[in-house]
Amino acid sequence: QPIFRKDYRRPDYTIDRVDLRFELGEETTRVHATLTVRRLDGAPQAAPLVLDGENLRHVSVALGGRELSAGEYVVSPTSLTIPAPGAAFTLATVVEIRPQDNLELSGLYRSSGNFCTQCEAEGFRRITWFLDRPDVMARYSAVVEADKAKYPVLLANGNRVATGDLDGGRHFARWDDPFPKPSYLFALVAGDLRCFPGEFVTRSGRTVRLEIWVEPDNIDRCAHALRSLQASMRWDEDKFGREYDLDIYMIVAVNDFNLGAMENKGLNLFNAKYVLARPDTATDDDYDGIESVIAHEYFHNWTGNRVTCRDWFQLTLKEGLTVFRDRLFSADMGSPAVARIGDVLALRTNQFAEDSGPMAHPIRPESYIEMNNFYTTTVYEKGAEVIGMMRTLLGEAGFRRGMDLYFERHDGQAVTCDDFRAALADANGVDLEQFGRWYSQVGTPVVRARGEYDANTRSYTLTLEQAPPRGRTSAELLHIPVAVGLLGPGGPLPLKLSGETAAGADTRVLELRERSQSFRFEGVPAAPVASLLRGFSAPVELEVERSDADLARLMAADPDAFSRWDAGQELGRRVLLRLAADVEARRPLALDRAFVDACAKIVADPGLDGSLKALALTLPNERLLGQHQPVVAVDALHEAREFAVQALAAALREPLLAIYQSSAPQGPYRIERAEVDRRKLRNLALAYLVTLGEPELVALAVSQFHLADNMTDSEAALACLIDHGGPERDAALAEFHRRWHKDPLVLDKWFALQAASSHPDTLERVTALADHPDFNLLNPNRARSLVGVFGVRNQHQFHRKDGRGHALVADKVLAIDPHNSQLAARLVAAFNPWRRFDPTRQQSMRAQLERIAGQPGLSKAVREIVDRALAPA
Ligand code: ARG
Ligand code: ZN
Repeated sequence: QPIFRKDYRRPDYTIDRVDLRFELGEETTRVHATLTVRRLDGAPQAAPLVLDGENLRHVSVALGGRELSAGEYVVSPTSLTIPAPGAAFTLATVVEIRPQDNLELSGLYRSSGNFCTQCEAEGFRRITWFLDRPDVMARYSAVVEADKAKYPVLLANGNRVATGDLDGGRHFARWDDPFPKPSYLFALVAGDLRCFPGEFVTRSGRTVRLEIWVEPDNIDRCAHALRSLQASMRWDEDKFGREYDLDIYMIVAVNDFNLGAMENKGLNLFNAKYVLARPDTATDDDYDGIESVIAHEYFHNWTGNRVTCRDWFQLTLKEGLTVFRDRLFSADMGSPAVARIGDVLALRTNQFAEDSGPMAHPIRPESYIEMNNFYTTTVYEKGAEVIGMMRTLLGEAGFRRGMDLYFERHDGQAVTCDDFRAALADANGVDLEQFGRWYSQVGTPVVRARGEYDANTRSYTLTLEQAPPRGRTSAELLHIPVAVGLLGPGGPLPLKLSGETAAGADTRVLELRERSQSFRFEGVPAAPVASLLRGFSAPVELEVERSDADLARLMAADPDAFSRWDAGQELGRRVLLRLAADVEARRPLALDRAFVDACAKIVADPGLDGSLKALALTLPNERLLGQHQPVVAVDALHEAREFAVQALAAALREPLLAIYQSSAPQGPYRIERAEVDRRKLRNLALAYLVTLGEPELVALAVSQFHLADNMTDSEAALACLIDHGGPERDAALAEFHRRWHKDPLVLDKWFALQAASSHPDTLERVTALADHPDFNLLNPNRARSLVGVFGVRNQHQFHRKDGRGHALVADKVLAIDPHNSQLAARLVAAFNPWRRFDPTRQQSMRAQLERIAGQPGLSKAVREIVDRALAPA
């Protein structure tokens, strides 16, 4: 049943034109498709044409204008086969579908009364018979017909070339897309929507009309999305020389959406969460999320649409590259260090965990059963790291040369990751063969570092060694860029490798290609502290023997902001892991003095902005800590971290209170860098202070919750109160619900905050919330807010020893699976790390996995995940 990368074969036929007509209806929708088909050179003359289909009610098929009779073709539940249709012909099919019953949200479906589509990866086959694979690129036209009163707005890809009225109160619009595209980029929308318009003038002087389509009530929440789109369009011109190619670019916000957004040609469909923002409904992080997803989908127009993937194994070709591009953009728009820290934190928390569990796969997978299960953090985020390493090796200008050559060679084609790498290599005359192993290797490689100072020769020798990922015995040697710096007594040292004539910059990229390599730095006046893997130059686990004092020194003085934060995190991790060991041994707990001092220095450092301070003062989360234990000590980790947070709050009470009081908002909410920094630090201070439980400190959160004019401050205060518990929690939750229960995105926060809480009664509350009238299993955002947040982000409560957390999530997976298997498959992944826990918890998780696996009629999406989880390690 799995599909293997090695089995790729080009198709026998291709499709040059697709003319579609949709008769949208309340009961049935009819889809008429006329395909202009051509047999490819080299394909056997008698090759059958086999089109994909799923959940289609077949009505008719005509070949070259002649209706075929039953004996002339074969229909199965997943295919339409025409034996030996000829070398070039048209094929016209009619099918009926029922979008109103389509809860999978793949293909043509309804959301909040509107029609919309999601075709990636294999949703187009749920709309009509087709060669539903990305290496078949065709020109499309689409006529959309619907009731005019109910669906005044009719959209599809490309340019609107005709509109008009039809009988029976219906109307139509015809859209032509001049650019050939794979079927997964097709889109259609019909509904009662309002347009928030804008424009963009390209560098060659063309005016592009921009349209953001939302439900009427949301028209006052579109400005940030439009600004982000305009900034993205400018940025891609400036940084990559890429101009937009159609006269119109549309974005539609949809309430029921399985993922973040979709880059359909000229007609992006977005989860409403990544479009809608108003200061009182969206947080600073939401604003950032919108900016980056808008940019991501826009950048796909070149990296994804103009140049697409040959097959789905190549997904990282477009996703890794486009994530990398949207990260560069976000770094340019805001603070590069803050952006990098956020990305690495997410990578370590989510991707490293995936890499060490049953779903581990290379960024270019070798096989899959359900492609939708491979839209993973490995393909996306590790994929982006792999692109980033190539840019580090080639330099900014070299990377740009490679990108230019890639577009020049492959515009209009469906290509592979190897094609991309070849373009980068050829444009720079370098060899990226060894580097290519990053595409096929599974797991997180380990890099070990060891330094030795020789006072006689004033030299420092750094030895770097690569080792296979943990739990794996062998791995091919990778090409790993390791950015290093040396911190001397007086600060950063200019670096001079032996053999060089003069010292250069204070950061150096060392290329590790052997099992072990030594690098000798000369002219080093005293034993330095090495700052390794600056900017996280490679997605590896770094092992290096360093004293706490060395880490404290880097935490205070590393000129690389990322490494400064990273040193603090490593120090914090050591402190917390030691505390967890104390908890387990029932020793008295005391927070490390030196760590408290290091944190106090951060609080007082005038050179750090508020966002960086907040990041530096946030202790590693429990999931990250668990990754560094042989068996995750769920309860001890939780107790240790709670203790450390309170001890730190007590030690820093005065300076934190001073920060809180001196940084109150001046004037209304503004989404600008200095203000975001101010809010981040102030809300971090509040979070620490409230843990002390003193009535006057809790009162700060209560009053902030009531007075805030913006969601950032209101949500932050609510989160503190939820963790605090008591009557303040109940009052705030009731108030928040009263105010926002009609607003789905804000109500999602109400569920998510409760599911993420560290309060000991969280499991009971989540159980009750699952029966709340506002809870809705069928809406992916709502289901994720409660079940996803609880199962993935709340280690302590999900893994309660009584197993009730496990049972709750398994129940929801089973309830969702018959309707939306993609969503269920995402949620069931919460069980993937089951082997990392103690026997009791293992047993409990395993029992739930087995219960799910034994469910009759289980979807293939969920089955693939649970089978992998249960397979012998
Ligand atoms: N290509 C979309 C994105 O940018 C993801 C869509 C995936 N959808 C799915 N059902 N697998 O990132
Ligand atoms: Zn993408």
